[in-house]
Amino acid sequence: MEYTTLGKTGLKVSVVGLGCGGPSRLGLRNNSDSQERAIGIVRQAIDLGVNFIDTAQSYGTEGIVGKAIAGIPRDRLVISTKKTLPDAGQPSPENEIKKGLEQSLKHLGTDCIDVYHLHGVEPKDYDFARDRLMPAMRRLREQGKIRFIGVTEGFVQDTSHQMLQQSLNEDLWDVVMVGFNLLNPSARRTVFSATQDKRVGVLNMFAVRRALSQPDRLKAIVADLIQKGAISRGVMNAKDPVDFMLRESSAKTLPEVAYRFCRHERGVHVVLTGTGNPEHLKANVESILKPALPEPVLQKLEAIFGNLDTLTGN
Ligand SMILES: NC(=O)c1ccc[n+]([C@@H]2O[C@H](COP(=O)([O-])OP(=O)(O)OC[C@H]3O[C@@H](n4cnc5c(N)ncnc54)[C@H](OP(=O)(O)O)[C@@H]3O)[C@@H](O)[C@H]2O)c1
Repeated sequence: MEYTTLGKTGLKVSVVGLGCGGPSRLGLRNNSDSQERAIGIVRQAIDLGVNFIDTAQSYGTEGIVGKAIAGIPRDRLVISTKKTLPDAGQPSPENEIKKGLEQSLKHLGTDCIDVYHLHGVEPKDYDFARDRLMPAMRRLREQGKIRFIGVTEGFVQDTSHQMLQQSLNEDLWDVVMVGFNLLNPSARRTVFSATQDKRVGVLNMFAVRRALSQPDRLKAIVADLIQKGAISRGVMNAKDPVDFMLRESSAKTLPEVAYRFCRHERGVHVVLTGTGNPEHLKANVESILKPALPEPVLQKLEAIFGNLDTLTGN
């Protein structure tokens, strides 16, 4: 495993982070009976050297993580979890933050969260998050119940990072979780220079999702983009958009291309990988530790997808 420093937090984190949500939720999404298997995925990740584990109140996997990490010295791990945004209309949203944190601590079996995020903040939520929820988050930090404050963007609704662009001007976060992949590399233009200037820790989500784990899905997306005129017919073979990526980078699989693309992006500290499949986890860790894609492949990807900011990779 390789380790890096998560921006101004100073936390030493593995460059691979285990995502316990996303389309798989450690395999629980498709098979809610597979708790033992899900615990096994978390332990496998730790055995592979992963020390950054990301979960959330809403994933239903905090308890799984709690069971998997029981008995492991707490300072060997960096635990990241998230608070679902409370309803702005209710009497005390601040109190909801406190209650959510207490519940997360209990599920995770710990007395302190390393990175506590507001979860899926969309542009419409931002003023509420800053003015009503941040004071409660700061209080939790002062009380020693959380170490650092993070935010995750609502990438599906905010593919061009409007919330992060606004909030990074206001210096709120220690850590941000950003949607970034080769089909929507727009954070390179709009987010990563600000995070580097301010030494904000960056967690990369949506590295793979469906489009970059299923070649047929990618073909359908590219055909649609060509049809809409979003990418030009001449720049790639629409019948086989995967072809050049694999051939010219000597990668074994499409997810390998996608993970190598993210891992070597300047400004990204941790690439999150979410899976319920032990073979995928092993392969993904290997992919993230491989060298950068060759420069000609990166240039071609930039020519094709570099200006897009509308896709999520779903
Ligand atoms: N707003 C937010 O806060 C937010 C939103 C999304 C995600 N996240 C975080 O980011 C983490 C990562 O999630 P993500 O959304 O970025 O998804 P992702 O990890 O990019 O994609 C996961 C999907 O790819 C498949 N997959 C993974 N490796 C594969 C491989 N080697 N071959 C084929 N398929 C493969 C998984 O299926 P299998 O189970 O079959 O492997 C799953 O369907 C989440 O777990 C969560 O912690 C946060």
